[in-house]
Amino acid sequence: MRLVFLGPPGAGKGTQARALAREWGVPQVSTGDMLREAVTTRTPLGSEAKRYMDRGDLVPDDVIVGLIAERLGQPDAKKGVLLDGFPRTIAQAQALDRLLEQLGQTLDRVVYFDVPEAELVRRLTGRRVCRRCQTAFHLAYAPPARDGVCDRCGGELYQREDDSERTVRNRLEVYARQTAPLLDYYRGRGLLSTVGGEGTIETIRQSIRRALGT
Ligand code: AP5
Repeated sequence: MRLVFLGPPGAGKGTQARALAREWGVPQVSTGDMLREAVTTRTPLGSEAKRYMDRGDLVPDDVIVGLIAERLGQPDAKKGVLLDGFPRTIAQAQALDRLLEQLGQTLDRVVYFDVPEAELVRRLTGRRVCRRCQTAFHLAYAPPARDGVCDRCGGELYQREDDSERTVRNRLEVYARQTAPLLDYYRGRGLLSTVGGEGTIETIRQSIRRALGT
């Protein structure tokens, strides 16, 4: 199974990808998580990426494509992969097509999370993330049992720097300009399934399973 989860910031891609990748036994490959890990460990890639991420802009395509090429070449990605937050530009989608072709693999489906903008802003500004396992919580919609502590692993919860309202607005504009054109790209290939991203986390998970026939 090779899938892309596509949608605006805050649509719930990471929340669903983390759980469904575990359920399906395939790796969740999140370029956002990979970049944040590089920022935390202060690698050269992390310092370059941070400048873009703090503003809510996209990291250059060549950097991201290099990361993904390396990740898809790892043994655990052979049986399948759930791509979360990649591709995000037409150039990245074309690079993914080439990479998969080189590996003798194909993309099975692209799941698009359709969520209204006002809801995205509410979700992002209230989000808290575990420093250790990256699980996302929400102060109102999915609060942790204990304030500031991850239910899954006991790690510390924090607010992402790019979740301030000002940066969120820029991320949404960047999405509309650079990522939304992928909807037509994948629709044209008959790969796109749209899932309404409003409702409880469990209801949306069911809609994704239904859309994929799993
Ligand atoms: P990235 O980490 O990928 O961020 P994003 O796409 O902006 O997505 P988010 O993580 O913000 O949202 P999500 O859809 O995963 O929502 P979540 O499940 O957390 O990228 C960050 C940055 O890295 C980018 O801005 C860019 O700079 C760089 N980058 C990454 N990939 C790149 C690429 N390919 N190319 C170039 N640059 C790249 O949910 C959000 C909140 O809502 C949570 O609090 C959650 O608990 C809550 N929630 C989830 N579902 C529901 C629900 N059904 N009801 C109520 N609340 C819900």
